[in-house]
Amino acid sequence: MGNKRGNFFTITCIFIGMMLSTQMVNAQNLIKGKKIFETRCLVCHQADGGGVPNMNPPLDGSTAVNGKDIARMVKIIKNGLDERVAIDGMYYNNAMIAMPDLTAENIADVLSYIRNSWSNKAGLVSLAQVNGALVKNKSNKK
Ligand code: HEC
Repeated sequence: MGNKRGNFFTITCIFIGMMLSTQMVNAQNLIKGKKIFETRCLVCHQADGGGVPNMNPPLDGSTAVNGKDIARMVKIIKNGLDERVAIDGMYYNNAMIAMPDLTAENIADVLSYIRNSWSNKAGLVSLAQVNGALVKNKSNKK
């Protein structure tokens, strides 16, 4: 009887511990993502994620940033973007530079940060998702 209760207590503690450590890892990743954003992205996309009209698109409120196509964003960060395609109905004259030196972990952290900053409330991006996207992008390359 007492033993069963003891087991339940132990299992509950382990479970709570796991939840707390996952949350701590997430917070840690967002802090790392913020640093990357500040050193590599802020100059164009601005501290408030609002971008610069006609030059650099906002990341705050962006459909793509909050969307499901992680592979496209990974590709943009790795290879840059100079397509002058409409982004949420607007065009931007600047080109995004390629950042091939960023690791998959850096990309996961910065994407998690931009998807959970300002008014954005999308899911975190895991290292596995970025690695999957890198493989997918490689096999799609013509
Ligand atoms: C040199 C300026 C510059 C820097 C630095 C830069 N970007 Fe960009 N970014 C742009 C421009 C310009 C575009 C749009 C390009 C186009 O329209 O062809 C863009 C597009 C994007 C998009 C696609 C937006 C959408 O709604 O489709 C994402 C996501 C993005 N940038 C994220 C980042 C992240 C994350 C970083 C830092 C790791 C970063 N950018 C650094 C200029 C920049």
